[in-house]
Amino acid sequence: MRRAIFPGSFDPVTNGHLDIIQRGCKLFDEIIVAILVNPEKTAFFTVEERSQILAEVLKTIERGDCRVTVDSFEGLLVQYAAEKEAHAILRGIRAISDYEYELQMALMNRRLQPRLETVFMMPAEEYSYVSSRLVKEVFQLGAPIEGLVPPLVEERMRQKK
Ligand code: PNS
Repeated sequence: MRRAIFPGSFDPVTNGHLDIIQRGCKLFDEIIVAILVNPEKTAFFTVEERSQILAEVLKTIERGDCRVTVDSFEGLLVQYAAEKEAHAILRGIRAISDYEYELQMALMNRRLQPRLETVFMMPAEEYSYVSSRLVKEVFQLGAPIEGLVPPLVEERMRQKK
C-alpha cells in the first residue's frame, strides 16, 4: 500500500495539477491532495471552496484503482506526511525554473524526515506553462482560461468576480 501526499495551494486547481494526479495514480495506491492552510497569503478561494472544488473535479479524472482524497494541513509538510503515514511527497515539475525551488524543498524535507521520498513528475507539455498564479492573473484581466482549468473552476471564478 503506497500512499503519497500531493501538497499545494490549489488556488485554483489547474489542469496541470490534475494531469500530475492522474500520472501519480499509476505509481501510488492512494494520493492525498493536501491544501496548505496559509493565513499569510491572500487567496482567491477559501480553503473550504478549494477543497470542495477539488473533490468535485477529482471525480472526473482517470484514477484506476488509486484512492484520491482531499484534505488540508497547517504547519510542516513532513509532520503532516508522518501523521498520514505517507511514503512520498508528489510534486510536478514544469520547467527548469521550477527545479531550483523544488530541489530546495525536497532536500530540506529529506533532512527533516529522511525516510520520506519526494517524487517529481512532469505534466503534459500543453500544461508546462500553466500555473494557478497566471490563471488568476489572466482571468482577472478578462482573458479566457478555458482549457487551463476544469470548467467548474472557471464557473466558480466567474461567480466570485
Ligand atoms: O503549490 P505551492 O504553493 O507551490 O505548494 C507549496 C507547498 C505547500 C508544497 C509548500 O509551501 C509547503 O510544503 N508548505 C508547508 C510548510 C513546510 O513544510 N515548509 C517547509 C518546506 S521545505
